[in-house]
Amino acid sequence: MIMRYYIVFAFLATLSNCSIPPNFKRCFRKDPNFKKCYSEAAQFGTTQLTKAYEALGTPNLEPLHIPFLTVRDKGGVFSVDQIFKNCNLSGLTNLKFDQIELDLEKKSLIADGVIPKVEFKCQYELNGKVLLLPIKGEGDSNVTLINFHANYRTSYEEVVKNNKTYFKTVKSELDSSAQRWYFQFDNLFNGIKELGDNINLVMNDNWKEIADELQPEYNEIVRQILKGIFAKIWSKTSLEKFLD
Ligand SMILES: *[C@@H]1O[C@H](CO)[C@@H](O)[C@H](O)[C@H]1NC(C)=O
Ligand SMILES: *[C@@H]1O[C@H](CO)[C@@H](O)[C@H](O)[C@H]1NC(C)=O
Ligand SMILES: *[C@@H]1O[C@H](CO)[C@@H](O)[C@H](O)[C@H]1NC(C)=O
Repeated sequence: MIMRYYIVFAFLATLSNCSIPPNFKRCFRKDPNFKKCYSEAAQFGTTQLTKAYEALGTPNLEPLHIPFLTVRDKGGVFSVDQIFKNCNLSGLTNLKFDQIELDLEKKSLIADGVIPKVEFKCQYELNGKVLLLPIKGEGDSNVTLINFHANYRTSYEEVVKNNKTYFKTVKSELDSSAQRWYFQFDNLFNGIKELGDNINLVMNDNWKEIADELQPEYNEIVRQILKGIFAKIWSKTSLEKFLD
């Protein structure tokens, strides 16, 4: 079976014993106000992820670099084989949570929030048809989503290693939507400007139809990104180190 998606992340791989960086708020699980503390810590922590933290296992999220991503043609209004390279995803640290709750009893985490503007800039290769028109080329691309809303739900299990407790994701689900999508693919059709401008115009005029079709794919990509980030954080920060 051929995988429809293929994503490569540039996450830190080294293990370390560094402690929690001082610019992150700490919470203690015995604290009766733990949930409130965790929610504030997560909101503030998100704004701090403008560089990588070895102790937390978090990559730089501003921008998040994604070396390689492919999405295969599956027909429909955007029937296109897509390759994206050298991507930078920016705006993630502006995420405003409406809710983020770590429930230590239920072993679940729920996060719900909005990112005002997500810019996804890559070097693209496209080949296929959009709204029945041919689209082909390679160059720089910018797919921008306005008011990207995400609801992420995950359950985890506890794994004990070296007498320390780590969280491991069992299940993760994401629902997402955006208020508006913008597309910009430079240099389509080997740089024949009129053709390229026309396709970009058609795509932006019909953004809703295309977005409805691409939403599940982008949803899956974002789910994998979030799952990857949590896996990294949770593999590095034991419950004892983080919450005691
Ligand atoms: C993404 O950022 C890296 C590092 O700053 C840069 O080398 C690369 O060209 C950027 N990618 C795009 C598509 O702009
Ligand atoms: C990407 O597209 C958005 C929406 O059109 C625009 O606001 C933004 O300036 C663009 N970014 C770049 C680097 O061209
Ligand atoms: C494991 O941790 C518990 C609780 O922190 C402690 O009482 C015990 O001595 C530790 N055991 C080892 C082998 O380090």
